[in-house]
Formats: sequence, structure tokens, C-alpha cells
Amino acid sequence: MDEAIRVVGGGPLEGEVRVLGAKNAVLKQMVTVLMVEGRHTLTNVPGILDVSIMQEVLEHVGATCVREGNTLRVDVPSELNPEAPLDLVRRMRASTIVLGSLLARCGEARVAFPGGDDLGARPIDLHMKALEAMGAEFSLDHGVLTGSAPGGLRGAEIDLEFPSVGATENALLAAVLARGTSRIHNAAREPEIRDICCQLREMGADIDGDGTATITVNGVEDLQPVAHRVVPDRLEAGTYAVAAAISGGNVVVQDCVPEHLRMELVKLEAVGCEIETGGDWMRIVGPDRPRAVDVATLPYPGFHTDMQPQMVALLSIADGTSVVTENLYDARFRYVGELARMGADIGVEWQHAVVRGVEGLSGCPVIAPDIRAGAALVLAGLRADGETTVTGVSHIDRGYEDFVGRLSSLGADISRS
Ligand code: UD1
Repeated sequence: MDEAIRVVGGGPLEGEVRVLGAKNAVLKQMVTVLMVEGRHTLTNVPGILDVSIMQEVLEHVGATCVREGNTLRVDVPSELNPEAPLDLVRRMRASTIVLGSLLARCGEARVAFPGGDDLGARPIDLHMKALEAMGAEFSLDHGVLTGSAPGGLRGAEIDLEFPSVGATENALLAAVLARGTSRIHNAAREPEIRDICCQLREMGADIDGDGTATITVNGVEDLQPVAHRVVPDRLEAGTYAVAAAISGGNVVVQDCVPEHLRMELVKLEAVGCEIETGGDWMRIVGPDRPRAVDVATLPYPGFHTDMQPQMVALLSIADGTSVVTENLYDARFRYVGELARMGADIGVEWQHAVVRGVEGLSGCPVIAPDIRAGAALVLAGLRADGETTVTGVSHIDRGYEDFVGRLSSLGADISRS
């Protein structure tokens, strides 16, 4: 049986919490190292389930991984088995990032075609178009996507219809070893992509413009093994910021980059939080009761879709009505029914949630449908009357190292069974 997190709503959270490296950077950085033989080291690696799944992908491809604490060593051999099988892609769709790196390194890649997932349809057409522009050819047989680059990959002008994070990353990895210059237009600007570019430059890649809408990559012949520290996880940091806010607490989040959470912090200030920031820390003091505020998710530097459920949990107890618009995923409000069991008053119409703030929530058993919604339900439990039991905990484990321990160290009445 799946484990459960039990949380009893109570007083304000207080104290300090440290965050680790970003899930959405490290998963790709583990694949980036496949592009060159040798021993690589990643530090500040979070102890989360998705990293373990990506380790299985790397082992399947032929690499050897050793994790000690928050350091991961990957030994990449000269010959790779360029495939990601269905059971791994199903468990973690980020496995599709092997397409670009394996095409670049091996000239071929076989990846189980990802279906939809917890958040909706999630196609990979943009990834494939970008790689096709560089000379890759794809066929889909019996659920397996096979990519090959018969004449080798060549630099190209790549126009993304949407600044997709995954498509930008796949194009980037493919371009690094391609012949000639590539320009990725309408590229995603996420801090995690900048960190992948940083790692690639440390490996010897020639990349410019990351963090802007056009990334230029001059292909190089060779790369070197790398030792890289993963950028802090802004989603983990943001989740603890909301924990402070929803409990009316006073929490310092250490080892984060507040600059990467600008829009999320703007919204937390708008609900009434007092926020102080330094280069790598932030203090969040929550209000007695939050004010309502409208939020719309957008690609970076907009409000992150992966912070939307936590924000809705906070707004569910706000004074007033908020409209939350989800612009990235078609099934991201699936958790709202669970919040409603706790007494939240939320109506969903297409991509909009109308969150009519209630005075209090009431603890009860709820089920986490995905990582961030799972975290949001735990946060709601911090403010609810009585006990909330969240099942589907493995979702939370995918993205948070020791979520229960960290919240407990801030004074939450929380345990896991
Ligand atoms: C990454 C993050 C995820 C985050 C998302 C948006 C990882 C492991 N995951 O996911 O946590 O929520 O960025 O910040 O880094 N799309 C297409 N065709 C494509 C690719 C994407 O239509 O080929 C659509 C998707 O269905 C979605 C939107 O574009 O609606 C955004 O997707 P994308 O930016 O690619 O997100 P991911 O890289 O999958």
C-alpha cells in the first residue's frame, strides 16, 4: 500500500530550511553527460525519486552511476546503448531528453513514445521538428520512436512555435556536437536551461544567448567530462515560501536564488506576505489571512505552472475571490476536487479556476494526483482544522527530498506512515 503523510493543522511555521539542486535541471544534466566518455560529477543533487529513475535510464544506456549524499558520479563508456524503454519513459517522461543527446553522440536513438500524463496530453512534436531541422529522421513503430541522423546532425535555424522547455533542451543538446551554427528562436528562458548551458560550456560547448529568446550554438568536435554544481530548485524554494505564507509563519529559505522566483514573490507580496531577500536566501513572513489575487501561469519569467497548485491552496483561504488561469497544461486542475473535500470553494471553467476564499479548511483524507498538487495538499493541511492524510506520496517523493522532515523542522505537526 502507498504510504501516507499525516499533517495536523496548527500554528505558524518558523525557522530555516535549505533547498537542494533543481529537479528540472539535474534530470537533463544527467543526460547531458552522456555526450562524452569519461567520469562526470554533479553536486547539489537532490535525493528524489526522479533522480533514481534517471539513474536507471543512464544504467540502461550503459553508464554507471554512484550516488553519495548529494553528489552523483557518472562514468560514461565509449559505447552506448541508445535507447530509453517504455517502463522508464512511463515512470518519468523527462526521459525523452535522451533523444537529442543520443542522436548527437550515437547518430541514433530509440525512445518509447511518451503518452499523456497526469497533466494532460503533452505532445513532443516540437522536439521532433527541431531535431528534424538538424537532419534527424524519425519513425514510430509499435510505440517506439526511432531517430537517426544518417548524414550526421548539422546546424540549423530552429523556430519553436512555443518556448517549450523540453524542445529547447533537446535542440540544444543536439546542436552542441552538430556541424556548424544553430540558432534556437523563441527558446525557453528558464534558469534551469541556463544552468544546462553553463554545464555544457564547462564541457567545452560554444553557446551564447541562453536566458534570452535566441540561443546560438556553434557546434564543436569534442567535449570534456565535467564537475558541475546544480542550480538551486526554485520550485522547492517556492513551495516552502508558500508553506510560510499559508501558516502565517516566518521562514528563511536558504541556498536558493530569489531572483529566479521574481513573479512568484510578487504574487506572495500581493497576498500580504512580507518578503526580504539576499543573493541566496529569502525570508517570508505570512499574513494572518491572505488577500485574494489573480494569477496566470506563463513560461519563465512568468508565474510558474509548477507553483500553481500551491498558490491555489493559499488562495483557497484568502479574503476574497481570485481567478487563477492555467496556460500551460490542460489537466492541471485535477487536484481541485481534493481541496474541495477540505472545504475549499473553487469552480473550474476550462483553464480558469475561480477560487472563492473560505475562512478555514477542514482536514480529511485526500489523494495527491501529481508532484506539485501533492505538495499543495500537504500545505493546505498545515492550515486545516484537524488531521489531513495525503496518499499518493510517491508523487511528492518525485520532486522533494525529505518533505516531511523539512516541514517538521519548521515546527509542522507532520509524519509519514
Ligand atoms: C518542463 C518541466 C515541467 C514544467 C514545464 C513548464 C521538466 C522535467 N519538466 O516540462 O515541470 O511544468 O517544463 O515549465 O523540466 N508542448 C507541445 N509540444 C511539444 C512540447 C511541449 O505542445 O513538443 C506543450 C506541452 O504540452 C505543454 C507546453 O508545451 O502544454 C509546455 O511544455 P514544455 O515547456 O515542453 O514542458 P516540459 O519540458 O514537458
